[in-house]
Amino acid sequence: MLLSSLQRFTVLLASWVRRLGTRTGNWLVASPRLKPWFYPPLKVETPAEKYREFNGYYFADIHEQERMLGDEPRMEFYHRAIRRHIKPGQRVIDLGTGTGILAAYASRQGASQVYAIDHSTIIEHAKELAAENGIENVQFEDLHSTDFHVDEPVDVILHEQIGDFLFDEAMVPNVCDLRDRVLKPGGLILPSLFELFCEPITLHDDRRIPYIWELKDVHGFDFSSMERSRPENPEYYRLSSCDLHLVKHFIGAPAPVVAIDLHTVEENALPPKVTFTREVCNAGMVDGLAVYMKARVDDDLELTSSPLEPGRAPHWGFRILRLDQSRVEVGDTLKVTLDVGDWADPDTWQWTCRKQPVDQRGTVM
Ligand SMILES: C[S@@+](CC[C@H](N)C(=O)[O-])C[C@H]1O[C@@H](n2cnc3c(N)ncnc32)[C@H](O)[C@@H]1O
Repeated sequence: MLLSSLQRFTVLLASWVRRLGTRTGNWLVASPRLKPWFYPPLKVETPAEKYREFNGYYFADIHEQERMLGDEPRMEFYHRAIRRHIKPGQRVIDLGTGTGILAAYASRQGASQVYAIDHSTIIEHAKELAAENGIENVQFEDLHSTDFHVDEPVDVILHEQIGDFLFDEAMVPNVCDLRDRVLKPGGLILPSLFELFCEPITLHDDRRIPYIWELKDVHGFDFSSMERSRPENPEYYRLSSCDLHLVKHFIGAPAPVVAIDLHTVEENALPPKVTFTREVCNAGMVDGLAVYMKARVDDDLELTSSPLEPGRAPHWGFRILRLDQSRVEVGDTLKVTLDVGDWADPDTWQWTCRKQPVDQRGTVM
């Protein structure tokens, strides 16, 4: 009797405690203040975060590093820039040190301290290579540059964050972040002057690959109906090449569509749309727009990925934004528009290139 009353009492007590617990729990979870703690918002990766992850993985590959190290114009440009502009005793950051080569050049040039930052595992090789090459005053920082902090500002930020589309390796946000946090006022960014080009071009006849729907007579076979199946994949509309024998000529006189100085540029200052015209000085087919870059340190020290420059840095591809084929003659004017959702992501680019109509007197309308 006593036992069964005791059992009933404990069962009752347990159910009462359970109910109280449930009510308290429901009340806590429903509380607007505590809700985010119980249900934290899902982390959405931004395109910049996704790119950051890809970048670290991409540059861990030794083949990517050897392509860059084997690019003689690139190495010569950086070696000369560092010899010319880094002074003994200066404190230097090498943003994205890779195998540590630019940090080593700076150290040999007499820098008192070099901070060599890289978020990719390639930095482990950089540490070993520095030790084996007798480089002593380089401090390796195994992190993303946005997480780098230093007590005393530095004199120089050295970097090579140049993508095939110039801005697609996050050069502007990465350099601006370090510049604004850890560079001395009046400090040097090496290199700092960059230009992006987007020039109408003609390809060599034997290298041209028309869109499939432009093939109207392949020994009597017509592909024009394929236009109904225009691919949606943005990559289809770009060609990538390092080949100096692909482009026959620029159609007009090249001029940069964007020019920046990293000492002064603001992170979001790049224009969302550029429009420009080119007077045709070389007649021919308009096959596309060649995208390439120029980096400049001073008047006689520059580096380019131009498709028509024999001394181009070969490991960078130039890109061709494809166009429906048309022919132009000397004296015509082309109008080009480039709409850019995100300069770092060419998949968001849209472009047009059209011959400008002229009136009866031949004046461009
Ligand atoms: C184009 S490679 C240049 C490597 C080396 N500086 C050279 O010139 O041979 C760029 C390097 O920067 C690193 N990197 C890119 N963005 C970075 C960032 N924000 N912080 C740290 N490392 C970064 C990559 O992992 C890669 O090793």
